[in-house]
Amino acid sequence: MKVKELQLHDSAKQVLIDQGLTELYPPQQDAIHAGALDGKNLVLASPTASGKTLIAELCALKHVLERNGKVLYLSPLRALASEKFEAFQKYSGIKKSNGRRISVGISTGDYDSSDPWMGKHDIIVTTNEKADSLLRHRAKWVSDISLVVADEVHLLNDAHRGPTLEVVLARLMQVNPDIQLVVLSATIKNVNEVAEWLKAVAVTTNWRPVTLREGVFLHDEVMFKDGGALSIDNKARDPTLKLALYTVKSGGQALAFASTRRNSISLAKKIAVTIKHLISKPMKRTLTQLSEQILATGARTRISEELAEVVSNGVAFHHAGLGGGHRKLIENAFKEGKIKILTATPTLAFGVNLPARVVIVNDYRRYEPGYGFYPIAVLEYKQMAGRAGRPCYDKVGDSILIAKTEDERDYLMESYILADTERIWSKLAVERILRSHVLATIASDFAHTEQGVFDFFAKTFYAYQYDPQAIKGVIQRSLGFLYAEKMIEVSGDKVLPTKFGRRVSELYIDPLTGVIIRDALTNRADLMSDISFLHMIARTPDMFPKMRPYSKEIDEISFFVEDHKDEFMCDLPDPWMDRIAFEEFLGEAKLAWVLKSWMNETTEDDMIERFSVQPGDLYRLISTAKWLLHASLELATLFGHKDLLERLTKLVVRIEKGVKPELLPLVKLEGVGRARARILFNNGLKTIDDIKMVPLQQLTKLPLFGPRLAKKIKEEVGALVKDEDWERVKKGKSDQQRALTEF
Ligand SMILES: Nc1ncnc2c1ncn2[C@@H]1O[C@H](COP(=O)(O)OP(=O)(O)OP(=O)(O)O)[C@@H](O)[C@H]1O
Ligand SMILES: [Mg+2]
Repeated sequence: MKVKELQLHDSAKQVLIDQGLTELYPPQQDAIHAGALDGKNLVLASPTASGKTLIAELCALKHVLERNGKVLYLSPLRALASEKFEAFQKYSGIKKSNGRRISVGISTGDYDSSDPWMGKHDIIVTTNEKADSLLRHRAKWVSDISLVVADEVHLLNDAHRGPTLEVVLARLMQVNPDIQLVVLSATIKNVNEVAEWLKAVAVTTNWRPVTLREGVFLHDEVMFKDGGALSIDNKARDPTLKLALYTVKSGGQALAFASTRRNSISLAKKIAVTIKHLISKPMKRTLTQLSEQILATGARTRISEELAEVVSNGVAFHHAGLGGGHRKLIENAFKEGKIKILTATPTLAFGVNLPARVVIVNDYRRYEPGYGFYPIAVLEYKQMAGRAGRPCYDKVGDSILIAKTEDERDYLMESYILADTERIWSKLAVERILRSHVLATIASDFAHTEQGVFDFFAKTFYAYQYDPQAIKGVIQRSLGFLYAEKMIEVSGDKVLPTKFGRRVSELYIDPLTGVIIRDALTNRADLMSDISFLHMIARTPDMFPKMRPYSKEIDEISFFVEDHKDEFMCDLPDPWMDRIAFEEFLGEAKLAWVLKSWMNETTEDDMIERFSVQPGDLYRLISTAKWLLHASLELATLFGHKDLLERLTKLVVRIEKGVKPELLPLVKLEGVGRARARILFNNGLKTIDDIKMVPLQQLTKLPLFGPRLAKKIKEEVGALVKDEDWERVKKGKSDQQRALTEF
């Protein structure tokens, strides 16, 4: 089927044709024949790289251009959401019937907001969690949504992210029963179950545009699924290094999955030594520039230095410990062919399009603290393998597992390559997860009776897969908890939210988090120090990532606890009586200490050295802490703790910026973070008035203050910048640059 034959607006088809996309892939044709463009609910389960996104795009265009509709695109990960947002941008030049152009928006942050401005967009890309929070806020524009796309729906199986996705889909169907659902999934065993749950047509295919050859490497030979073999014998010793060298020599790029961050780094270093002599001189120069760019992005740390080092040899590593700026740089450099081999943790396994002709699955086992090693699911292996051979980059793809013995080779062939993917199972019916959704159902006025709550949960995937009765017990326990903690009230057969319950639900915090914060504010109002607030949020179930004390740290943390013993929310548990509680407490204390050190201006590199907190973790820690402190501020307001408001407000900013109190006035300025604020302060510029008074030229003499930023800051504080001063500063800077280049 040709693109031009589609029942779709000409301008939309033209965008595709201009991109060289003229013919639909078979799975796409199947989806069209199944009624995708006629408003039918659809579950499209098709292999990696089979073009599922395009179906979502076509349906979106149909709704926006011909049905005056609005589209919500749900993605499980922020990184994937921004890739899809960029993909939709190509349609933003198309005019709608009202003469306006298609507008695309992305909303993934701040859970305590209904983002009213999002309503002006036709296509809105969000994460599942953000969509859940928008539904709780009853964002007005949600009822205008006519099409919902849910990507990577097999993640219903994921214990962390699955339940939210399931509740969001059930809720959207409840809000608007006529909504069209287009659900994209990897091939899974029980597609029909998912489809039946969503009252959708299932379209399943095994078609892939690019052949993916899956094999196992042992004794210098890859044995493929079809019985074929490929001999790879070069001077490298380690199997992964052999494969990397082979790929680069044959002009390709490879993605090597490692099971831990540490492995991804050590593997990248070894590969860099192995392939560096193959990098051409001009490429080497490009890579040197990229290395410098990495060092200049964000704060300089030992991790950015390690990354810059391997990058100069055409290799990089990618994991969640890297800062967002570095991750983006690496992804782009790999896409541009500058990075030849990329090692990665499974963060890159889902959905992304990368030019990996070869995927090397270095380790099929994963380590879970307290659980040990376990083999990954077939579904996860297939996702990793599927990053190889993407149609926009390669004509063929290889995915290679590594075996150490013949037995292991047979095991890998059978258990992964020839195996079917698993069935997926709802993970919803756990009280820890459910109580939050039960509260939301009542607090956002979706149901006001116990029966109403049961009825809603009877529409979830869990109820479909098991028995609706099976979830009733957990719902009742949740209701009991919410009632005891005064988040809901009962009057006759009515169940209504209290102000507390409503606010907790909108703040998108676990009800138990709400209880921990409320009790701390009420019972210890006069005793709350910074450490107390930090320990309070560290104890909540929403604090993520959690921390465990390493054995070598236990003494040091115990000293910290001793120094602040009256400031914690509870007494130190006795390690002899309850070892688990003791370690948990030390983990919370460590977290409070880490956050306190951040606010005391510890550098990012010292955060790695002292606490093993890498930039990516630090970023997540800070955003979670900020969110929970914001929630505490809101609850302090609700419960009338006026005396705490100012301190909490300051704490929110100190956590966000990582500064001591004396820098608070300075970090309010745009473009001034912790480093620049400290420079200003140490040079005697301590207040907004000081900055107003200081001559522009003097400001530009400080490190990290270029003329443009200096001018912007002066204007922001309300000082007048005279033209002649500006000209002088600009000239001064260019003279300085000239002198430097001549030198
Ligand atoms: N009909 C087509 N003709 C040519 N290229 C296409 C066509 N449809 C999709 N593509 C290209 O195929 C690539 C893979 O598509 P897409 O990312 O949608 O795969 P997917 O099925 O979502 O895979 P995954 O399960 O890995 O997420 C994209 O680069 C896309 O531009
Ligand atoms: Mg996809």
